Amino acid sequence: MQGPAMSDQGAVANRRMLVSGNWKMNHDHLSAIRTVQALGLMASDDDLRKVEVSIHPPFTSLRSVQTVIESDDMPFKLGAQNCHFEDAGAFTGEVSAAMLAKLHVEYVIVGHSERRVLSGETDEVVRAKLDAVLRHRMRPIVCVGETFDERERGSTADRVEAQVTAAIAGLEEEATARLVFAYEPIWAIGTGLTPSVPEARQACDLIRSVVAGLSGDGASRSIRIQYGGSVNPDNTREMLTATGFDGVLVGGASLDAGSFAAIISAAARAG
Ligand code: 13P
Repeated sequence: MQGPAMSDQGAVANRRMLVSGNWKMNHDHLSAIRTVQALGLMASDDDLRKVEVSIHPPFTSLRSVQTVIESDDMPFKLGAQNCHFEDAGAFTGEVSAAMLAKLHVEYVIVGHSERRVLSGETDEVVRAKLDAVLRHRMRPIVCVGETFDERERGSTADRVEAQVTAAIAGLEEEATARLVFAYEPIWAIGTGLTPSVPEARQACDLIRSVVAGLSGDGASRSIRIQYGGSVNPDNTREMLTATGFDGVLVGGASLDAGSFAAIISAAARAG
């Protein structure tokens, strides 16, 4: 990464935007291949020079997507949605960070709210996964965000601060600098709702200041922070220009190559 330069929003001006498509439990390996090929045709070279793009298919499609990306020399990064924190062992049904690294995965989502809520992942488990991803030289995308009730109670900042703190406390500055955070308010996921620009900016600034306090200013300037939750081609540009975010983590709208390409294009115009 190039040396950071401060912008007037306190973000780093020359950090490249990261647009990530989290496919969740969608697309079998055949439709995954078709979608990546279509995205390769639809996304413009100019946009892809400006914006880094990672694609996070289900585990069963990782090998197929990796092969398409590498054989066609596509400028997409391979991403995973989860991993186990141990490298190997008697963990039925799990996939380790070591296995993902072998497949040339570069980004791994950790602590997505659907895993925290549906699979009972605690902050401690999220931290162990983050450590495993870093150990294998990949980059974690650490998801944080409050529930609807927490927002109503006015405890958004407390929740986000606690999650960021649990993720990085005691981590070396150099390691923290490699992280991507995704601010995903749980009430905004799949609902069509998004936070207001001031709310989003506040969350983004909070994450950066918690990181500065725990890991130093250098790490705080180097991390990238994505926004996630009901991102679409129409709201991407505003979310990126007005708030200080360095990219978006996209669920539903990344499943279709056309709408994902439009989001990439909107991010390129915002960058
Ligand atoms: P949606 O974009 O479908 O709201 O999902 C957001 C998300 O959870 C991405 O990780």
